[in-house]
Amino acid sequence: MRLDPVFRLTGSGGPPPSRAQAIAQVAAFLAEHGVEAATAQDDARALLRAAAGLSRLDLALSPQTPLAADESDRLSQYAIRRAAREPVSRILGARGFWTLDLMVAPDVLDPRGDTETLVEATLALIADRAAPLSILDLGAGSGAILCALLSELPNAWGVAVDLSEAACAATRANLARCGLGDRAGILRGRWGDALAAVFDIIVSNPPYVRAGDLATLDPEVRLHDPALALDGGADGLDCYRDIAADLRRLLAPGGLVALEVGFDQAASVAALLRAQGLEIAGVARDAGGHERVVTARAQRLSS
Ligand SMILES: C[S@@+](CC[C@H](N)C(=O)[O-])C[C@H]1O[C@@H](n2cnc3c(N)ncnc32)[C@H](O)[C@@H]1O
Repeated sequence: MRLDPVFRLTGSGGPPPSRAQAIAQVAAFLAEHGVEAATAQDDARALLRAAAGLSRLDLALSPQTPLAADESDRLSQYAIRRAAREPVSRILGARGFWTLDLMVAPDVLDPRGDTETLVEATLALIADRAAPLSILDLGAGSGAILCALLSELPNAWGVAVDLSEAACAATRANLARCGLGDRAGILRGRWGDALAAVFDIIVSNPPYVRAGDLATLDPEVRLHDPALALDGGADGLDCYRDIAADLRRLLAPGGLVALEVGFDQAASVAALLRAQGLEIAGVARDAGGHERVVTARAQRLSS
């Protein structure tokens, strides 16, 4: 039986605590429950701001303001959830991705900062951002990648595919939230199976965790992200094999593909793409210095 963490904020000379005291108490409580100390501080601050409806500036200007009773109750509930290792983005139901504020849904992968590397690497290879480009996002999840690309490419349109019903609903909600709903369609299905069109750009962040490593993931991932979004099979490369097999059929001549990869998978994924006749354009590194995105191009038609 798992006991949920218990927590109640206390004031120094009796309730209520100030905002600064509340942050310190929540951070200490989170650290006691295994959240890394630096992260615990940031998380406590974010949870307090959400509980009290404060901007960063509000908090910086008046850290000594006492918490109201309802703010204190909300913060205590948030702290208990975070101590049970639920990510802040899931507690608050939203996360910043690229320049966007996305909704984070249960049963859908919480988009990661690493995936912004894929957006950046893709945009860097587009010569004309005003062109009417077609984009296919395979395994769209929350729709983070497609939303970010459409937000930067004003005349592009896209198709999002995901096997998960919850992911399709999340993509739909996020496209609407970002004002991009009229430039994208959503298909529930297996990779490119249902598609007959060709695309200028294909992007994907497929599941790539080795099946044997799933049990070792941090609780924030293991307990809260769906297995369908994580499990890449015995060697982590199953989904890349499936996707690569469809690329010749789905990529327009000269089209671009960008795939997010696990930190040690770039060479293997590049080999899968080369085997399909694609030319590797580059390998981009994430903020931590890991090889994170493989980009490649289909051959152009000879004139
Ligand atoms: C790692 S998540 C990526 C989600 C999102 N693109 C992102 O970067 O945050 C992988 C996604 O692939 C989807 N998926 C898994 N197997 C699939 C399949 N056979 N066909 C289509 N989508 C699949 C999962 O449901 C999940 O949403």
